[in-house]
Amino acid sequence: MARITAGVGSSHVPLLGVAHDQKKDRDAYFGPIFTGFDWTRAWEKAAKPDVVILVYNDHASAFDMKFIPTFAIGCGERYQPADEGWGPRQVPQVIGHPDLAWHIAQSLILEEFDMTIINEMDVDHGLTVPLSMMFGDVAEWPVRVVPLAVNVVTYPPPSGNRCWALGEAIARAVASFPEDLNVQIWGTGGMSHQLQGPRAGLINQEWDNRFLNGLVGGSDHLRHIPHIEYLRETGSEGIEMVMWLIMRGALGPSTRLLHRHYHVPCSNTAIGHIVLEPNP
Ligand code: DHB
Ligand code: FE
Repeated sequence: MARITAGVGSSHVPLLGVAHDQKKDRDAYFGPIFTGFDWTRAWEKAAKPDVVILVYNDHASAFDMKFIPTFAIGCGERYQPADEGWGPRQVPQVIGHPDLAWHIAQSLILEEFDMTIINEMDVDHGLTVPLSMMFGDVAEWPVRVVPLAVNVVTYPPPSGNRCWALGEAIARAVASFPEDLNVQIWGTGGMSHQLQGPRAGLINQEWDNRFLNGLVGGSDHLRHIPHIEYLRETGSEGIEMVMWLIMRGALGPSTRLLHRHYHVPCSNTAIGHIVLEPNP
């Protein structure tokens, strides 16, 4: 039986990919950010997940205004790092898990979540930066990845409540997959940031830390935060945090905290990172 053993939340700032790739990750600016992931890198080596369901958003790399899937699942064999304007990152290709992905797609669609199925796409910093943060400099990623893309770029994104419910349905789908697999689910993006307009650079440390608090334990109050609160309190790109609720929903009624890290600033963004276990 496949099972979800842990959830990881992480920002996915593209500059972290640059810092990693240019080996600046221990300098004065990036050191305090990357050291917050050291615990997780050691833990991942021991945890040895077979598959990560990686909830992320595409930033106009694979999708654009021509088509905007609200929820999409990657069922392909492999995915190449996207060229985001300065050439693809020199990181390993991402190996999928088509059997698990198609099983999840079937289970979700029969539960009335209208997923878009993707067999071919490139994956951008939203997916590859968290892999670098969690696994470092490796010749091959040590896990298979099922990409789960969420529209948080063009209004209207899905509600937090719908994201949480999708996570719950993903957990049921994984639990009904017959192969014995150790599966993690990651939610990426955030935390507070706004990249454009008069409020560019907005950071809200108090709000972010309340959000991190809310992921731990048995409360589900985060699922009811309205879009307008993310926009007002955490900036236009803070809405990426609804993706963390898919991860949280998949962990079940209660969670236990394993690790937590928060740092300001990184590029325009407040870096947040959390590692959780289901609390049976
Ligand atoms: C930044 C953060 C993001 O989440 C992103 O997708 C792009 C840029 C930033 O802070 O620079
Ligand atoms: Fe982003």
